[in-house]
Amino acid sequence: MDSLRNCEPALRRTWMALCRSDEATETPRAHRLLGEEWVVWRRASGGLRVFANQCPHRLAPLTTGWCEGDSLRCGYHGWLFDSDGQCVEIPALGDGAIVPPRARLRAPAGVHESHHMIYVALETPWEAPPEVAVARDATFMRGDLTVMRARASAGLLADNFLDVAHFPFVHRGTFGAESEREVPAYHVTREGDGFSAVYEHDFANREDPGVASGERPLIQRRRLTYRYRAPYHLELDIEFLDAGGRNVIGFFLVPEDNEWVRIYSSLWRNDLGGSLERMAEAVDFEVAVIDEDLALQAQYRTFTMPLDVTQEVHTRADRITVELRRILADIVNRVS
Ligand code: FES
Ligand SMILES: [Fe+2]
Repeated sequence: MDSLRNCEPALRRTWMALCRSDEATETPRAHRLLGEEWVVWRRASGGLRVFANQCPHRLAPLTTGWCEGDSLRCGYHGWLFDSDGQCVEIPALGDGAIVPPRARLRAPAGVHESHHMIYVALETPWEAPPEVAVARDATFMRGDLTVMRARASAGLLADNFLDVAHFPFVHRGTFGAESEREVPAYHVTREGDGFSAVYEHDFANREDPGVASGERPLIQRRRLTYRYRAPYHLELDIEFLDAGGRNVIGFFLVPEDNEWVRIYSSLWRNDLGGSLERMAEAVDFEVAVIDEDLALQAQYRTFTMPLDVTQEVHTRADRITVELRRILADIVNRVS
């Protein structure tokens, strides 16, 4: 396999984000992943349910229907499915009729909820689901960016969000600093189907009130720790070495089909003094940064990511995104 398409079947055995926790309510709602719709709801008694959004009877979307207690009724002919997905009532057959055992909903192999996100593994996953450690730390507050969509390769978007050589060019309107054109040496440590990489650089800290007051210079130091879990869970952990504080940015990419990707992103910060206003500003700033990335990505005319490393030219500044390709190639080759 030389390249990766969004709907690569091998990804069915990895954990992929599907939606945010607050999108799971007692009203069934559908989300696209790998070319299929998945219906998500939260039972009246608690507990999350995810199934293919297709009734086994006439394949109507289950989102035509509604919840009745812990069960879900299809909106077309009213078949009722219990919370395990088994049909327990077919109104057209009358009371007490035998329900065919095949009348059941198709479920993913795994569902996991953590850091305000819902993940699914469509088939038996190779690894444990991803976590954002700071999401459990009460000293951090969370801000969610609006959900974005891009016509793109999910692999190339992951590549962009992990890349460390584009800041002074793509982000010259936000945080990109001229002084960081040269990428210093950094290490990437592989951990199963993921890695972490630590990188320190100069940046323009336009958010720091200490810059306006003259307390600190605009160009400051920060340490970036990238944590990646295949295929599309990315965290960028930023420690502000001059101004103090920590900002963790999560990117959770959902390959909807071979051309579209949904992008969930959240911030966790411990340096805003609990201010919702400052968090709203931080979220707006991050949206502006991602818009810069997406404006460039929108100019690509390809929806595949090269996995054969001879197709592109790599340098030592690209260690992190070369590792990304290696991991995705390992996953694809595991099943082919
Ligand atoms: S299609 Fe769902 S009950 Fe007929
Ligand atoms: Fe970027």
